[in-house]
Amino acid sequence: MTMCFYISLSVSAMDTVIGLYGETVEVPCNNGAPKPKDLFITKWKYVKMKGKGDNGDLLTQLKDQDASVIATNQYKDRVSMAENSSLLIAAASLKDEKIFTCMVVAGADISEYPVKLLIHKAPTRVEITALAAELEIGKPTQLGQCSAPDSNPAANITWFKNKKHLVADGKGIIISSKVKVDEVTGLTTTSSTLQYTAEKGDTDALFTCGTLNALSSPVSFTVTYPTERVSLHVISKGPLMEGDNVTLKCKADGNPLPTSFNFHIQVVKVENSDSYTVTDVTRDSTGEYKCSIVDNAKMEDSKNITINYLDMSLSPSEKVMKSAGESLALNLQTDASGELRVSWTKDNGKLDKMPKFDKLTYSDSGKYEVVVTMGALIKKASFELVVEGIPVIRRLAKQRGEDGQHKVLTCEAEGSPKPTVAWSVNGTSADESPYVNGKISYKLTIVPTVNLTVVCTVSNELGQDTRAINVSTLFEEVRMDKQGSSDDSDTTKLVVGVIVGLLLATVVVGLAYWLYMKKSKQGSWKTGEKEDGSTEESKKLEEKIEEKLEENSQKVEV
Ligand SMILES: *[C@@H]1O[C@H](CO)[C@@H](O)[C@H](O)[C@H]1NC(C)=O
Ligand SMILES: *[C@@H]1O[C@H](CO)[C@@H](O)[C@H](O)[C@H]1NC(C)=O
Ligand SMILES: *[C@@H]1O[C@H](CO)[C@@H](O)[C@H](O)[C@H]1NC(C)=O
Ligand SMILES: *[C@@H]1O[C@H](CO)[C@@H](O)[C@H](O)[C@H]1NC(C)=O
Ligand SMILES: *[C@@H]1O[C@H](CO)[C@@H](O)[C@H](O)[C@H]1NC(C)=O
Ligand SMILES: *[C@@H]1O[C@H](CO)[C@@H](O)[C@H](O)[C@H]1NC(C)=O
Ligand SMILES: *[C@@H]1O[C@H](CO)[C@@H](O)[C@H](O)[C@H]1NC(C)=O
Repeated sequence: MTMCFYISLSVSAMDTVIGLYGETVEVPCNNGAPKPKDLFITKWKYVKMKGKGDNGDLLTQLKDQDASVIATNQYKDRVSMAENSSLLIAAASLKDEKIFTCMVVAGADISEYPVKLLIHKAPTRVEITALAAELEIGKPTQLGQCSAPDSNPAANITWFKNKKHLVADGKGIIISSKVKVDEVTGLTTTSSTLQYTAEKGDTDALFTCGTLNALSSPVSFTVTYPTERVSLHVISKGPLMEGDNVTLKCKADGNPLPTSFNFHIQVVKVENSDSYTVTDVTRDSTGEYKCSIVDNAKMEDSKNITINYLDMSLSPSEKVMKSAGESLALNLQTDASGELRVSWTKDNGKLDKMPKFDKLTYSDSGKYEVVVTMGALIKKASFELVVEGIPVIRRLAKQRGEDGQHKVLTCEAEGSPKPTVAWSVNGTSADESPYVNGKISYKLTIVPTVNLTVVCTVSNELGQDTRAINVSTLFEEVRMDKQGSSDDSDTTKLVVGVIVGLLLATVVVGLAYWLYMKKSKQGSWKTGEKEDGSTEESKKLEEKIEEKLEENSQKVEV
């Protein structure tokens, strides 16, 4: 007997559905196509995938009835069927990666719709750990480890620098990945280690790592690099002079900046500072100075430093005593590293040039100072010159007072130290001029009652000088010369007048005598007398004239 069942079985191509780990996963039946009209039964079952796991039925649903769970295993409480025949699996895990088949019986047709279920899980987080403390330029360093735990499938970790993909090149960028699968959950933890060789410019670079849809927080690093340049600077301004403090500064690049330096000042070595001051430098400090960083003596710089100097010596340099008329040799010696300006002063007054003392006079006395400058360097020296000499009376004169009642005697003296005066007579008043350049003038007012010889004596420690002058009484002089008020000038006029008068008289007398002689010669031509006129008469006449002149000039004498 043949039961004739005509059954057709069709198996459609397998779909793939991706569900999310831990969620309720929907596995659609026949891609969500509407249920066939003559649907009799819908059944969900599963088969192992890639030979793993088991096979089993999950649930069935008869037409117009509720679905009933057949499974007795782990799926017992997790599966259900939706109105549209989709299989719903709660709390999906990797163990649910199976082939689920929806079997639909409609009329005589049995259709199977297998669906491959994959469970995906994004990594719990993406983060960079095990960060490098710092990156040193040129030195391969493990920058960090990016981990993406518990994902399925395994996360594909990518590294970025400033959002730009870092591609491993086997030299500067080496990326190694490690994958670990959790035995219980089957989830994969991926970690990727980046070994990176920093370059200049990486100082503020932001490094991130990411998976398909997650990105780590950015990290940045201190980028260090060794010193590549050292430069030595002289901080002190202007030309350096002896006595200055010269501060040297050693500048270096690198990160971190070097903090210790070696200063080589000829042979001296200083540490733990970037600057060094050489105090109170001298010309011997001139030379080549070097600095270097402590851990690499080749990283050095040098500078030639010149210390300017100025030496000066002056001779004499203290107080000098000299006699008037002597000479004094000055000796100024200078030794300097540059051009000098020399200026002289005497008693604070400027001199044009260095003084010369070939023949000292009292006016040469004074305080001499020489100032030698070169830039800011100034040297001074001074000496005091005192010119001494025995007093000498240059002039002793007399003058009648304007009222005609007294006479003023003037005794002018020169000498140093300042001469004092002594008069041989007492005066009605005495005064002295200021003592300037060794000169002083003393005056004495007297009222002479008799003819006097007045002596002026000037003296100092070194000696003295004396001079006398004859002073006649005022009474006689008044009688002699009523108009005269000044002895000095008027006496001269008077003398000149008298002399002129007497000369005229002489000429008249002489003329008369010549005429008389001529006559007598004519008479005695042949007597042979000499013609020189040195006769008794002429001699007598000459004597008389001389007497007369003498008498007159004596009268003129005051
Ligand atoms: C099936 O029904 C569920 C719940 O009603 C719905 O979420 C889902 O989108 C449906 N699936 C298809 C393939 O239509
Ligand atoms: C990871 O990603 C890179 C680039 O994004 C790609 O070339 C590579 O094939 C991926 N690897 C895997 C295992 O998916
Ligand atoms: C140089 O330094 C010393 C000590 O620090 C100080 O006493 C002196 O005044 C300084 N000299 C100059 C010219 O600045
Ligand atoms: C300093 O002077 C010396 C000798 O003149 C010279 O050899 C050297 O190069 C100079 N150094 C610098 C830094 O100028
Ligand atoms: C000047 O006066 C003083 C006293 O006044 C006297 O002792 C002295 O002898 C006088 N000298 C002359 C030269 O008259
Ligand atoms: C003073 O001298 C003048 C001439 O020099 C003379 O004439 C006069 O007699 C003298 N007087 C006395 C008081 O000696
Ligand atoms: C002053 O007069 C006397 C005699 O009267 C004379 O010997 C003397 O030389 C005169 N002195 C001066 C300085 O003229």
